[in-house]
Amino acid sequence: MTEKKVSIVGVGNVGSTLAFTLATKAVCSTIVLKDIRENYVKAMALDISQAANASNSHTVVQAACSSKDMINSDIVVITAGIPRKPGMSRNDLLSTNAKIMEEVIIDIKENCPNAIVIVVSNPLDAMVYAALKFSNFKSNQIIGMAGILDSARMSHFIFEKLGYGAGQIESSVMGGHGDDMVPLPNHSNVAGVCIEDLLSKEDIEDIVNKTKNGGLEIVKLLEVGSAYYAPSYATSIMIEAILFNQRKIFPCAVMLEGEYGFNNIVSGVPVMLGANGVEKIIELELTNEQKNQFEKSVSSVNSLTSLLDKEFFTV
Ligand code: NAI
Ligand code: 2OP
Repeated sequence: MTEKKVSIVGVGNVGSTLAFTLATKAVCSTIVLKDIRENYVKAMALDISQAANASNSHTVVQAACSSKDMINSDIVVITAGIPRKPGMSRNDLLSTNAKIMEEVIIDIKENCPNAIVIVVSNPLDAMVYAALKFSNFKSNQIIGMAGILDSARMSHFIFEKLGYGAGQIESSVMGGHGDDMVPLPNHSNVAGVCIEDLLSKEDIEDIVNKTKNGGLEIVKLLEVGSAYYAPSYATSIMIEAILFNQRKIFPCAVMLEGEYGFNNIVSGVPVMLGANGVEKIIELELTNEQKNQFEKSVSSVNSLTSLLDKEFFTV
């Protein structure tokens, strides 16, 4: 276990499950949990710390008494915000979660200006944009989690169709974390065999639609919130890649500065994650149809960030 510190701001379903995953896997030495629900967060810290002890992990889990407890964090994960309920889109969360983001990211900047920040709060791409604009952090420092989750969902639906290949499916999804995300069947495979060689066009279309609606399906069934096991696990993978400088490639939401022909826009693209956060953005060869879909997804994100610009960032 490395001497590393991870703080999690927002310790609801995603934040607490993430803390549990990190603590029981002994991914870092210290986890600081920060939430506006003071007793609740203390309860989470105790319960998760006791789980860490049960798993013989030496990770220390503590509830933050103040923002100062985040000092020297290597990574801060932001899951603070409200999740969507049935009938709400991720976009309905924009203004509320942007105000929460402002408060949280300024706090992070004051206490751990060198931390790598992973944003989970929705609407994801717009929240990454907001975090960057409120903080003026460098663009390699703030990364959104969604692509690993969306790709895992696609793998799940590919397995459902195939009935074989569990654990061998690698899927690829680009674009914003919304209805216009861009699943890439030609970059998805089972043990190296492209799914286009294994499934019919109709089956693939069905997989693409189910992937786009993967979050909504769970929201409808849960009735009181949104998915948290897969989102938390996906976030833990990003944390490991950064803490251990693994330089692995994952789809993540990052600020584009010329890549794919876009500037000042946050979208999901393949990213090499390492000690500096975003080490490199990988530019995939897309078909014309995929380029159009990506452009549409970018323009959906743009419509949200324009609202943020009007409300928060116009001088
Ligand atoms: P939740 O409601 O269970 O937890 C949110 C937590 O944030 C609560 O404990 C709340 O007290 C806390 N909070 C609110 N304002 C705060 C502040 N100013 N400072 C500190 N804590 C604050 O929600 P859940 O399910 O954990 O989801 C969290 C966010 O993540 C939501 O916006 C949700 O839509 C998003 N999400 C994004 C995913 C993605 O793929 N990017 C996947 C799953 C969830
Ligand atoms: C999800 O896709 C709510 O964005 C979250 O499950």
